[in-house]
Amino acid sequence: METKVWLVDKFVDELITYPQVQEAAGFLQKNEVVAFPTETVYGLGGNAQSDKAVERIFKAKGRPSDNPLIIHIADSQQLGKFVSEIPEKAAILIEKFWPGPLTIIFNKKEGVLSDLATAGLSTVAVRMPDHPLALAVIKAAGLPIAAPSANLSGRPSPTTARHVQDDLFGRISGILDGGPTGVGVESTVIDCTENIPVILRPGGVTAEQLQEVLGEVRFDPALTDSAQAPKSPGMKYRHYAPDAPFYLVDAGKPFIQELILQKQAEGLTVGVLTTEEAKDFYKADIVYSCGHRNRLETVAEALYDTLRAFNNTNADIIFGEVFPEKGVGTAVMNRLKKASGHNIITE
Ligand code: TXA
Ligand code: MG
Repeated sequence: METKVWLVDKFVDELITYPQVQEAAGFLQKNEVVAFPTETVYGLGGNAQSDKAVERIFKAKGRPSDNPLIIHIADSQQLGKFVSEIPEKAAILIEKFWPGPLTIIFNKKEGVLSDLATAGLSTVAVRMPDHPLALAVIKAAGLPIAAPSANLSGRPSPTTARHVQDDLFGRISGILDGGPTGVGVESTVIDCTENIPVILRPGGVTAEQLQEVLGEVRFDPALTDSAQAPKSPGMKYRHYAPDAPFYLVDAGKPFIQELILQKQAEGLTVGVLTTEEAKDFYKADIVYSCGHRNRLETVAEALYDTLRAFNNTNADIIFGEVFPEKGVGTAVMNRLKKASGHNIITE
């Protein structure tokens, strides 16, 4: 399949009138699938009302069909078309955080969206992305757009058009290249069908921010106890992993350096995932820094690019540092734990 790549300057006015945006929207209207940037990661979009388009999304990604998609909208008025009610707490969240990295789970109105997009559930996940190019292409298409992250299933989510090309070139109809995304980790998923909203996936909007406006919020118990079945189907799959075995190390730098030396003595090429603060400390074969430990949003932004960068090295094994689980650090640690397959080495 031919994959068109459209380069677009996201800062220009009237993006919606640009030929690249119009052409991409035309593809979406023909039920073809197109990748576009959001403020979190690149998404692979398709018409959420079309089984054909949604099938194409699942096929291009190699995604298990029991994992539902997030429906992206450009205008909160669209919501009433496919959700059966907007609970008061959801209305508060919409007012405060949309457009933005927050996905809200609602009860679904039957018969409007493709059942494949919602994996046959009675609920639907919706978000309004805070990215001019995403909003322009959704508006131009005039459709609700189902969009998972635009990576091959299991790999780190894409934060640049290059990442999308590496995974999906030849498998999708087009890629709108609007430069690197900003937040770097995916949206927070919150279930508002229950009286006390439940965070199913930590992400760009922090639990602290949600607590501030909602009062009480819960975490899906599966987030802290890997023996529990997660309420968000996608959370049970291995995800974000680099090619080489990846271990998180919850210990000080000298202990990590010891591990590196041990593995090198066994003849392995060893990588370490660290930050600016510690990158000069380690003597490993590959030392990659993903931002500043004291500014966790920089770590979120660079995380997937750094995980992917290890795939262009000959690393046999990778050790990663851990981060404090507060603010966006909760999302960063959620992704790192998954990338490691929950293999965490302690001192
Ligand atoms: O930031 C993001 O959310 C990105 C950008 C492209 O918008 N999208 C994204 O989509 O991360 P995806 O498909 O990679 O992750 C969607 C998550 C999955 O864990 C899925 O199981 C969950 O949302 N989800 C979707 N619908 C759901 C539902 N009705 N109930 C519970 N979880 C749901
Ligand atoms: Mg994903």
